[in-house]
Order: sequence, then structure tokens, then C-alpha cells
Amino acid sequence: MRVFVAGATGAIGRQLVPRLVAAGHEVHGMTRSESKRAMLDELGAVPVVADALDPDQVAQAVARARPEVIVHQLTAIGPVDLRHMDRDFAPTNRLRTEGTDHLLSAGQAMGVRRFVAQSNAAFPYARTGGAVKGEEDPLDAASAREMRAMVAAIRHLEEAVLGAGWTEGIVLRYGALYGPGTSLAPGQEQFELVRERKFPLVGDGGGVWSFIHTADAAEATVAAVEHGTRGVYNIVDDDPAPVAEWLPALAQMLGAQQPMPAPRLAAGEAGAVLMTELRGASNAKAKRELGWQPAHPSWRRGFAA
Ligand SMILES: NC(=O)c1ccc[n+]([C@@H]2O[C@H](COP(=O)([O-])OP(=O)(O)OC[C@H]3O[C@@H](n4cnc5c(N)ncnc54)[C@H](OP(=O)(O)O)[C@@H]3O)[C@@H](O)[C@H]2O)c1
Repeated sequence: MRVFVAGATGAIGRQLVPRLVAAGHEVHGMTRSESKRAMLDELGAVPVVADALDPDQVAQAVARARPEVIVHQLTAIGPVDLRHMDRDFAPTNRLRTEGTDHLLSAGQAMGVRRFVAQSNAAFPYARTGGAVKGEEDPLDAASAREMRAMVAAIRHLEEAVLGAGWTEGIVLRYGALYGPGTSLAPGQEQFELVRERKFPLVGDGGGVWSFIHTADAAEATVAAVEHGTRGVYNIVDDDPAPVAEWLPALAQMLGAQQPMPAPRLAAGEAGAVLMTELRGASNAKAKRELGWQPAHPSWRRGFAA
């Protein structure tokens, strides 16, 4: 198939493009930068330079590529200060709202038959009831103040993609990404904070996190491109775990001292939510319907891979 990947140079894109090419697809990979054409060439994609926030550029890029499938992997997440999440996620929120709308319009004009978009399983599930959520469980209607715009942008993306009746709209809710190109990797921001004992264990550390290795996220995305049907899929590993479990284990793996305890109040509202209230996600539907299995079924071994 001809597949148009928006976000082809990112942490997921760099894993996804070569897998799509190896599976025999013709991939058109989008970037903002002329200087990244060479990277896309090496990954095996036809480079396409366009700004996702410019509807005309997106329409022209998609029209030239004439894709059967569009994959939306656009984010712009820099360093995140948990006290200013909505400020730090603002560029990503624009990509999830305006960027999604531009790609959908361009795809509709070309009659694409499948539209696969990156969403998130790590943040948005409602913090009530069981520790592990399925795709039908409700999203958080009362997020922490600093997370509201982010959750609203995720909702916009999901509703727009699932509501696009002219195509097979597929939403992939990735867990907390780790591995190459992410901040949870050797030498990268979050691992270094843990190594330097600057990632505290807040309150009881009861927030449940679901992780996913970028390579596994990419494999699931290939499966969705090839035979996904309209709907939402959690793309997470088999091992949702509370912060009180994974954070000390990660510290031990990195040879660091055990994390410093910190009271909930010191973490701010969003920090307290992430560390003490988050819910994990189940991958049962993705395994069943996409025929996908994570090669890294648990962060316990995956972090060290
Ligand atoms: N997923 C989460 O919720 C979350 C939360 C916290 C931290 N993280 C961390 O965030 C990192 C990923 O961050 P990232 O957002 O910088 O992703 P990334 O992996 O760099 O990918 C972003 C992609 O979007 C493209 N892009 C962004 N703005 C664009 C625009 N206006 N027009 C066209 N393309 C555009 C980029 O292309 P070009 O740059 O080539 O134009 C790139 O291909 C990972 O380390 C992850 O661990 C993720």
C-alpha cells in the first residue's frame, strides 16, 4: 500500500518507517525540515517536507503522495515541567487538534481508506474504579487543572478520527513510551533523573503506569495499518505497575540509590495525579484483534534491553 506517515522522523516514526518498508509498503514520510530528507531516504521513505499546521501544505503533500493509508504520529513534546503541563504540551495539543483536522481533510480529499492516529493510554483514563482500563472505560472528565488542555486535545483527536465515517479511523493509545528516541532510555532525561535521585517517590506511589517499547508500538502500528478496523486500541505492555514498584526497580537497574520519598503536596496537583492516581491499561483487544504481541512484554526486562 501507499502509506503517508506524518511524524516520520520521530521516536515512533523512525521505528515505523523501516518496518512498513520491509513489509512491502511504499512510504511517504513527512518532516518540517529540508535537512531531514536524507534521514527519511535512509529509512526508506519518500521524503515530504510540509508543516502540519499549514492546511495548504498538508493538502498538497497528501495529494502528491496519493496514499491509501495516513498515519498520524505528530507530537512536539520537549522537557515537561509537571507544574506547567498545559504550557509544555501546547505545541502537541495544536498538532492533536489542528494537525489532526488538516490531515483528515487532506485524507478525505484523496479518499484514504484507513487513518491511524497516535493517542495516549498513559494519562487520560478516569481515575476511578479498577487499576487497569480497557478501551471502553471512560476518560477523565475532571483532570488535574494542568492536564485539562492535554486531555481535551486527546479527546478531540480521538473523536475526529473515530467520527470520520468516510474512512477506517483507528486510534492507538500508546502507553508511556520508552526505548530509543524517548526520554526513558539510557543517558536520556528521565533515566538520568532517576540515576541522580531527582525523580522522587511521591506519596504512596500508587499511580499505575502502562509502558510500551517504541519498537513494540511500531509493530502494533504496522498491524493497524494493514488490517485494523475502526476503533480504539490500547498499545501497552503486559505489566501495568504502580510507581512504587517500577521506580525503585528502575533505580536499582541503573545502580542508583533508592528514590527519595516526597509528600503529595510537594509534587503539585498534576504530579500527585501521575504518581499516585493514574490507571494502567489492558492490551487484550490489540492482541486479539490486531494479532500483535509485544516483544518486550514487561518493562522489567524491557528497560534494560
Ligand atoms: N507521549 C507522551 O505523552 C510523552 C510524555 C512525556 C514525554 N514523552 C517523550 O517525548 C518524546 C517524544 O517527543 P516528541 O514529541 O519530540 O516526538 P518526536 O519523537 O520528536 O516526534 C515528533 C514528530 O512530529 C513531527 N512534527 C512535529 N511538529 C511538526 C509540524 N509542525 N509539522 C510537521 N511535523 C511535525 C516531527 O517532525 P520534524 O521534527 O522532522 O519536523 C517528528 O517527526 C519521547 O522521548 C517521549 O518519551 C512523551
